[in-house]
Amino acid sequence: MSIDLLEETALAMVAAGKGIIAIDESNSTIKKRFDAVGIECTEENRRAYRELLLATPNLSDHISGAILFDETLRQSTRDGVPFTKLMLDNGILPGIKVDRGPQPLAGFPGEVVTEGLDGLRDRLAEYARLGARFAKWRAVINIGEDYPTSTGIDANSHALARYAALCQEAGIVPMVEPEVIMDGSHDIDTCFDVTEATLRSLFDAMYKHNVMLEGSILKASMVLSGKDCEDQAGVDEVAEATLRCLKSTVPASLPGIVFLSGGQSDRAATEHLNAMNVIGGNPWPLSFSYGRAMQSAALQLWSQDIHGNVAAAQKIVAQRARENGLAALGRWTADLAG
Ligand code: 13P
Repeated sequence: MSIDLLEETALAMVAAGKGIIAIDESNSTIKKRFDAVGIECTEENRRAYRELLLATPNLSDHISGAILFDETLRQSTRDGVPFTKLMLDNGILPGIKVDRGPQPLAGFPGEVVTEGLDGLRDRLAEYARLGARFAKWRAVINIGEDYPTSTGIDANSHALARYAALCQEAGIVPMVEPEVIMDGSHDIDTCFDVTEATLRSLFDAMYKHNVMLEGSILKASMVLSGKDCEDQAGVDEVAEATLRCLKSTVPASLPGIVFLSGGQSDRAATEHLNAMNVIGGNPWPLSFSYGRAMQSAALQLWSQDIHGNVAAAQKIVAQRARENGLAALGRWTADLAG
């Protein structure tokens, strides 16, 4: 696969003012989200919900791509149009989650390593045939009293680098996601140190595995205070710490960085992204690949009437896309909040 095509896809994913909508919840994760709002987790409800999101009018004004779960990549609209066709016709790049989730790392209590490398070459070839242009793998880095260890971080980086190399072999852009989890009472400095060590390890592993950075996208977590930390860092502190951390660890040849929302409120996710782009002067575009911060308000409304509230829920999706698209340009202001 030529690097030009990978680079073209990667650049399109982070086109100015556009980001990614992450709708790649596994069936067990979407069940938790549906349970929370009282929707039965049937295949048809999952399909209908994903159709609502993907068919949002003018979604591509601020969304360049969507990450899907395996089941969704194979589904169609009610009228029989494959989701991948709907997306490509509407200028949205299809992405696919290819990892098989985190499992406890033997010998390292509290730490996990993401599985899914076995058979990945064949799965990627099929995903490419089905129309996937990029693929996501999420590593989970937990923060506790005596972890993460360098062994835990390096095990995850090794898996990310091997998955990324396999993606590029298949002509698919890897979206490498090392998520430093915000659960815990740690302070922002601890999050900074863990994120810095994680990104250093990741880019070292990608270099050793011959991954072409020009054809890769980083999906990063922001540098934040732990959820239960008494001293919560403000918007400017988060923006400044995240940029300082990324600038010292992420090569400038990477086409772009997108952030996950990771349990932040919708407002905080947008404000943090905007603040980073207001500071500016970065070697890469900084955009979003939000799951919860793109969907939660729309899911809440849809759940109240899954037949009658489709258009109203789509309006909320469009609104969140617009706000985050403006934040990716540093042009979001509080009066725009829905
Ligand atoms: P959140 O934005 O809800 O964290 O989801 C993004 C994602 O894809 C996590 O892997």
